[in-house]
Order: sequence, then C-alpha cells, then structure tokens
Amino acid sequence: MKTAIVGLGYVGLPLSFEFARNGVTVLGLDIDTAKVDSLNQGKSYIKHISSESVGEVMRSGAFCASSDFSRIREVSAVIICVPTPLNKNREPDISYILETGKSIARYLQKGMLVVLESTTYPGTTDEDLREVLEIGSGLVAGKDFHLAFSPEREDPGNPNSKVGIIPKVVGGYTPECAAKAVELYSKAVKTIVPVSSCRVAEATKLLENTFRSINIALVNELKMVYSAMNIDVWEVIAAAKTKPFGFMPFYPGPGLGGHCIPIDPFYLTWKAREYGQHTRFIELAGEINTSMPSYVVNRVTDALNERAKALKGSSILVLGLAYKPNVDDERESPSYFLMEMLHHRGAKVAYYDPYVPVIKPTREHAHWAGTKSIEWDRKLIASFDLVLISTNHDSVNYQQLAEWADCIVDTRNAMAKTSTRPGQVWKA
Ligand SMILES: NC(=O)c1ccc[n+]([C@@H]2O[C@H](COP(=O)([O-])OP(=O)(O)OC[C@H]3O[C@@H](n4cnc5c(N)ncnc54)[C@H](O)[C@@H]3O)[C@@H](O)[C@H]2O)c1
Repeated sequence: MKTAIVGLGYVGLPLSFEFARNGVTVLGLDIDTAKVDSLNQGKSYIKHISSESVGEVMRSGAFCASSDFSRIREVSAVIICVPTPLNKNREPDISYILETGKSIARYLQKGMLVVLESTTYPGTTDEDLREVLEIGSGLVAGKDFHLAFSPEREDPGNPNSKVGIIPKVVGGYTPECAAKAVELYSKAVKTIVPVSSCRVAEATKLLENTFRSINIALVNELKMVYSAMNIDVWEVIAAAKTKPFGFMPFYPGPGLGGHCIPIDPFYLTWKAREYGQHTRFIELAGEINTSMPSYVVNRVTDALNERAKALKGSSILVLGLAYKPNVDDERESPSYFLMEMLHHRGAKVAYYDPYVPVIKPTREHAHWAGTKSIEWDRKLIASFDLVLISTNHDSVNYQQLAEWADCIVDTRNAMAKTSTRPGQVWKA
C-alpha cells in the first residue's frame, strides 16, 4: 500500500517515518518547499527527529518528499496531517484541510483511502472534507473511495511516546472504510482501536485534549488559592499523586501553549453552538488558563517590589521560549504572552532558550522576529534584575542559575532541587 502523507510537520513527519520503517512506501507531500528540500538533503528541521534518521529512511528508499500533488496518482492511500488553528475570532479554521482536500480530489482514484488526522470538530471528515473530495473528483465516498478519521496522539519531546506503540483510534465513514483504515495503520501501529464512525473518532480526540485543558485549569486555580494560604501546590500534587487510584497529576504553569490544548477545545465549543449546546467547562478552563500570564506578571511585579524596583525599566530574562520542556516548538507559547506583557509595562525583555536560537517571523509576534536567545553566561545572567522561568528545559543548569541570578520567578517548580537563598525564588 503506497501511502501519501500530506503535511510533514510535527505529526506528519514521525508518522511517515514509522510507516517507512515498517515496509510501507511513503510519499511525503508538503506545500512548504523548504521542508521538502531539507528532507531530500537528509536534514531534519524538528529537534527530536535527527538528521541521521532522515538520512536513514531516505536511503532505504521507503520515503521521499515532494510538493507535487499529481504524484497522488501513484498511491493507494492519503493521510492528511495539516494544521487546524483558530482564526483571529477564535473560531475553527479548517481551510488547510479543505485546501488539501481540493489538491487530493483532482487525483483521487477509485478504491483509494483518504484519512484525516488533523484535530477538528465532529463532522469535519464526513461533511466538509467529504464534500470537497466528492465535488473535486466526481467520486462518491463510501462507494468509490474510502474515507476515515484517525486522531494523532503525538507527544513531542516525550522519548517514551513512539507512534508505533501508542494505540490508534480509527473511525470510518462506512464499516468498509474503517476496515481499510485499520488495515493501513496495522502495518505501523501495534494497537488499533476501531470506533463506529469518523465523528466518534473526532470527538474522542476533543475529549482527550479538553480533559487536559480542564485539569490544567484546576491546578492553575488551586495554585493561586493555595499560594494565598501559603501552601505550595507542587508539594500538594506530589503528595496527592501517591494515591494509586482515582487521581492523575496535572501541573500548573504560566498558561497553555502549543498547537493543541489551547485550541482544540474551542473547536468543540464552536460546533456545539450549532446544536444549541454550551461548553461551560471549556469556557471556564479557557478563562482561567488565559489569565495565568497576568498572575505571573503580578508575581514578577511583587518580587521586584520586594527589592524596591519597578517593573518599568527593569531588565527581565525569560527562560524558555518553547511551549513545553525539551522541544523547539514555540507556537502559542505562553512565554510570548509574558514577554509581550512585560514589554508593554516598560520592562527590558530578553530570552534564553537553547532550542530556539532566534525568533522566526510570525504574524502574531512580528516585532520579536529576529530577536536572538542570549548566551548562557554568568555575567550576562547576573546582569538581569529578574529571571522568569517560563519553560523548564532539562538541559538548563538550574543550580548555576541559583548561583548567578539575584531574583527568580519560577512558574514550573524548576528550582525545587537546587539550593537557593531565602527570598531569591518566587513561585508563580
Ligand atoms: N504537534 C502536536 O503535538 C500535535 C499533536 C496531536 C495532534 N496535532 C494535530 O495535528 C495537526 C498537524 O499539526 P502539526 O503540529 O503537525 O502541524 P505543523 O504545522 O507542524 O505541520 C503541518 C504541515 O502541513 C503543511 N501544510 C499546510 N497546508 C498544507 C497544504 N494545503 N498541503 C500540504 N501541506 C500543507 C505545513 O507546511 C506544515 O509542514 C493539527 O491538526 C494538530 O492540531 C498536533
């Protein structure tokens, strides 16, 4: 079964490699020619995927990258892994899926399987995507071609999370569509979890990410409540997680980041309105989580105040730009919100992140484009009025930080194992 994977990002690339290593010939397709060129030169553009592994799969002949969608004629299955962001009104933007659908439709042939993996609201596969595929090809889903949804469960930066061993939920437009999709994924994934429809599979992914968003909001709220009571929420969570049943630890932070947790629940909120339903839990969690940067900035202000300094004019180093530890992905990172807020209040802001050496141009953070990470250097670090730990990469030497920095605001409990001076570290 030669398979095309469209969208060679954080999801599509590891998936392509898993198939390629398991005997499925993969044609990787992306509109970003820089990514295609990089892969064809054996170079990776994702930190946790090495260039050696790119070279290895390229040399095996089981994978090649291209921007030529007419090559879809060569394959019997297409998997779509393109972005599903929110637009500026925080509504789902499925235009990437629809554009991809149009590109595929022109070359769709009888008997082909199309699977969507991008996170989205229930109905996207069997309504929106089906429509563009049918109109563009003149073929009928479930009769002439197969259609399915299978949500991605990528956990970037987690070395124990490998595509092949994470159970994969699969829902088909018809039972035959589901069977075809199960057959394809079985080649690379150990455990397949078939469900009765595309919509159930779509809803499953939204449940998983909403569950995270709500639980993170809960601990974020408790962080503020317990802090007012002079109780350390981190110690509370460490104690609670010794309970062997009925509890699962979630950790507070400076706000949500990444391409999934801050976004996906709002896909459900939007779709629910069509059915006259309200997603109050999601809204409340969103409210709490988005208020976190303000809470953190208040703590920064308090910490500076204690040293008779104002936020305005103070120099602040934000440590960690990526949205979570040990990755190079800084999309939707709360660090940006913090930098923005501190900058607007008159602070002089710099950042340190070993995985994000320079800020790339983006629509959302245009004026930070080109800003470079500072060096990890004693004199330089000591020159800041305050260091704000936003992301706790494992590679950072926190003991050195404790020795060099005068004042540290820690949103991740990164300083827990270091020896520090009284009043030096403020949890936030
Ligand atoms: N990153 C994660 O950890 C993660 C985890 C689970 C689910 N997801 C979901 O997976 C989907 C993809 O996320 P990602 O993180 O891989 O995104 P990404 O931005 O890393 O990669 C998407 C790729 O799609 C390409 N692309 C965009 N439009 C295209 C088009 N019309 N044709 C071909 N290629 C196109 C882009 O150039 C990019 O390379 C999203 O729906 C996301 O919510 C992501």
